[in-house]
Amino acid sequence: MLVNTKELLNDAEKNNYAVAGINTTSLTMLRAVIEAAEEENMPVILSHAQLHEPYAPIEMMGPLMKAAAQRASVPCALHLDHGTTETYIYKALSLGFTSVMADFARFSFEENVQRTKKMVEVCHEKGVSVEGEYGEMPSNVEGQGRALPEGKTLEYFFTKPEKAAEYVGKTGVDSLVVSFGSVHGIYIEKPQMDYERLSAIRKALPDFPLVMHGGSGLSEEDTWRCIDGGIRKINYYTYMACEPAKQLTGYIADSEKPPYFHEICEYARELMKEKAAYAVRLFKNRG
Ligand code: 13P
Repeated sequence: MLVNTKELLNDAEKNNYAVAGINTTSLTMLRAVIEAAEEENMPVILSHAQLHEPYAPIEMMGPLMKAAAQRASVPCALHLDHGTTETYIYKALSLGFTSVMADFARFSFEENVQRTKKMVEVCHEKGVSVEGEYGEMPSNVEGQGRALPEGKTLEYFFTKPEKAAEYVGKTGVDSLVVSFGSVHGIYIEKPQMDYERLSAIRKALPDFPLVMHGGSGLSEEDTWRCIDGGIRKINYYTYMACEPAKQLTGYIADSEKPPYFHEICEYARELMKEKAAYAVRLFKNRG
């Protein structure tokens, strides 16, 4: 069942949980995520990131994701993750995406507001929800995200609570990515979450759906604390996408004959399904 993100996040807000936004960069991964959501009977946000275009062109991946969402027995949104150019956002809209992230956080506050507001006008006319970003998401993935200026700590990227409310008011976004300690990619150091900041943002934006990126690799305790602090969507990818590599060497070595590629994909699908199921369960249940 294809829905937009706003409906999903409203329910999450009412019932204090978070919906998983999971990147699907292949058919194998897409099936893993859908099956996990169906088995757990949880909604899910199928996400395609602009930076994955070279591996999964949106014009090929988008229709597959849409078909999967329409066939699914649970509510699914079709979401553009980190849409960093207007042209790409328009492309996602033309393919029937029901939700987009307008990622202009690398610009000045004023330019971020102005570009995002324009995308909100276009998207809302089509019933599409918009996720904005104010503050910037740090990244441990090579080539993704802006490098930290010399001598600065991660806090340089963090969301300022008072400006967050101004950003939401001026742009009209439906949800907001906040930066307070999570990082895209593998955690090199134990994450240091700034919960005081999250609580100040929540106070400035009561009942407004906040989004956390960099959600894979966080402990259960941190994840639940974030949900209790108002996080309603958690992006999850790295720890699922890296799981098959850990086990495939052994699987191939133990095979009596060279396995077909589709058999390797099936093996990988089961491994990624377990990770996706863990995430959707974790974001809903309190242990
Ligand atoms: P992870 O790298 O922690 O899986 O986060 C993915 C993400 O935030 C995509 O936008």
